[in-house]
Amino acid sequence: MSTMLDGATLARAHRALNARASGTRAFWVYDLDAIRERAAGLKHHLKSLSPRLSYALKANGLPAIGRALCEAGYGADAGSLGELELARSCGFAASARTLSGNGRTPEEAAWAARHGVEAVSADTPDELGLLERAMADAGSRCHVALRVNPGIVAGGHRGIETGHSATKFGMSAGQAMAAWRERARWPHLVLDGVHVHVGSQVADAGAFIAAAKVSLEVVAACAREGHALASVNLGGGFAVDYQGEGREPDFAAIASGIRALPGAARARWCFEPGRWLVAHAGTLVAEVLWDKRRDDADGSHRFVVLAAGMNDFLRPALYGARHIIEPLGLRAGAVTAADVVGPVCESSDRFAESVPLPPLEPGDLVVIRDVGAYGAVMSSNYNGRGRLAEVVHDRGVLRLARAAEGAPPGARDGAETPLEG
Ligand code: LLP
Repeated sequence: MSTMLDGATLARAHRALNARASGTRAFWVYDLDAIRERAAGLKHHLKSLSPRLSYALKANGLPAIGRALCEAGYGADAGSLGELELARSCGFAASARTLSGNGRTPEEAAWAARHGVEAVSADTPDELGLLERAMADAGSRCHVALRVNPGIVAGGHRGIETGHSATKFGMSAGQAMAAWRERARWPHLVLDGVHVHVGSQVADAGAFIAAAKVSLEVVAACAREGHALASVNLGGGFAVDYQGEGREPDFAAIASGIRALPGAARARWCFEPGRWLVAHAGTLVAEVLWDKRRDDADGSHRFVVLAAGMNDFLRPALYGARHIIEPLGLRAGAVTAADVVGPVCESSDRFAESVPLPPLEPGDLVVIRDVGAYGAVMSSNYNGRGRLAEVVHDRGVLRLARAAEGAPPGARDGAETPLEG
């Protein structure tokens, strides 16, 4: 369920931002206490597995959020050089950092070797040579989990499924086993883990249990050949309830289903949740620019134009994601259906269709809920628009955690530099 901050707090944040910089018409706000509560809640839900929990920084890379989760005892999972740096600057120790994702680069491998990570997830056996060279050059070693594509279809949308053969992620179980057999080729790598991530916004407990089963089969097959595999990383993916229907993944079923699998007791379980920890804690607050009504031949159409657009919050345009949208104050008058749209020059700049809304005036505030995950991190400068400010609410105090981008980037980056010679 959404844990949105109350309207008075959101309006206070709007006033405070405008006192600093007038014309601040939209912004993100995150409730850090709600994130701490979710962090403790997930630990509790999964405690019978005693897992290592690493926050997937890609869901929301605001340093204030990373620091809060670091203090809550979480590790950090990074998917890029930038996220590795972010993990370090948020205070995650080398032993609390992991590196996952496909498309590994020499720079990421060198960073991991130089500054240290607990484990790297290898997406293809070809990557092992790159990791070995980087570790050897730095005189260090690291654990490696082989990412297996388990052939499981799960995820809230085609674009966020990752666990079946039509997706780019991971290697086959057979390739993982072949790599283990040859592990002596990479003396600076400790190949002791399996990594599976079936997708994001996964509500079905069965998908996690099926992923654990595939992983344990690989572990058992390796054990028969005398190779001990210690860790099984089931990735992230826990769904959140965007519609406010009270539905969450059945963690008790996930934990007991996994524990019932043969060999489960010997595995060291890891999870890398992102969305579940932060989605509900984030709200996008935007002024109404226009409540526009158009008399068309086929009837009248109403469009509420917000000061935030698809460049700010892409999920509805990219995945057809539906988020609850509501006004902060209620004006008298008939509630009618409106499409809620942004100011960007294309028709996919639409947050929702047919939302029942009261009359609205320019300057009224509207909120889009549960945007703490994959919201601000996916913003762009499309249409010459600067990214929005990010505010945190922490134990009753509002803080500006990231200022809005000022001048449109086009105006800032006009100078050219000779590229060759
Ligand atoms: N681990 C790995 C290897 C991942 O690729 C991801 C997410 C996670 C963990 C965290 O998954 P989560 O717990 O957040 O579901 N932009 C999309 C979601 C993309 C997820 C990418 N990978 C969206 O807005 O729905």
